[in-house]
Amino acid sequence: MKHLLQLSTLTKEEIMNILQDAIRLEQGEGLDSAKGKIVANLFFEPSTRTQYSFQVAEEKLGCKVISFNAAASSLQKGESFYDTVKTFESFGIDAVVIRSRQDEYYKDLVGKIQIPILNAGDGVKDHPTQSLLDLMTIYQEFGKFEGLKIAIVGDIKYSRVAHTNIEVMERLGMKCYISGPEEYRDEQYEYVNFDQAIEEMDIIMLLRVQHERHEQEMSISKEEYHKLYGLTMERVHRMKEHAIIMHPAPFNRNVEIADDVVECDKSRIFKQIHNGVYVRMAVIRRAFGG
Ligand code: CP
Repeated sequence: MKHLLQLSTLTKEEIMNILQDAIRLEQGEGLDSAKGKIVANLFFEPSTRTQYSFQVAEEKLGCKVISFNAAASSLQKGESFYDTVKTFESFGIDAVVIRSRQDEYYKDLVGKIQIPILNAGDGVKDHPTQSLLDLMTIYQEFGKFEGLKIAIVGDIKYSRVAHTNIEVMERLGMKCYISGPEEYRDEQYEYVNFDQAIEEMDIIMLLRVQHERHEQEMSISKEEYHKLYGLTMERVHRMKEHAIIMHPAPFNRNVEIADDVVECDKSRIFKQIHNGVYVRMAVIRRAFGG
């Protein structure tokens, strides 16, 4: 049984195998290769991209899909997280995809749940499939990881995307820098001035300010944030010719990214979303031993 809980536990070879499989799947191979399997998508925290791209991935593989509605479930009657997951396992399903606000929620499940668990995001810790789709996008763009420089800009402290990406990207030979407001910095990483990063990086990855994870309001206004750390078209014009823009989304237009930058030539944001379907197909196949 192959869970996908944290990318940090996968070797570089295992990561490359998933990416190569995702690229083959994007080219049209492997449709219906998990036909008849039943997968439940248990999202205990809101999601558009991860939830529905898992659903598209499952349907392309021929799986039957159960989409759990937390707001209309027995969670509302006090049923626990563990008992909810155990109930789905008892139905005889083949795998669960889980997102939770709780860091490392899977520690309550591993060893007790006997079907693959695919982590769709846990608290501020990990977002393995987001990082895999980011890696797929970078690999398709540059054909390598070694030596590439990326600046991840914004709310680093509360971002599971940043934490997962920095670990795996550094391991694959990339050089990662962080930038953005002091209040959201994570001091364990190397900081770079935003306007310097604009001119020096191969990849600028922007992050949304994750207000829902903060105890205090941001100390600056959205307008001020945009002026100091927002990717405007003026800044895009100062990026290297081959450099690209990424964002895990959802994005806030005219806060961390200007409206006209979202779909500009350098933006790979919708390519990332597209790739999400194929990396999720690849991790589902891996879970079933494919
Ligand atoms: N990038 C991402 O995880 O988006 P969702 O929260 O919409 O799934």
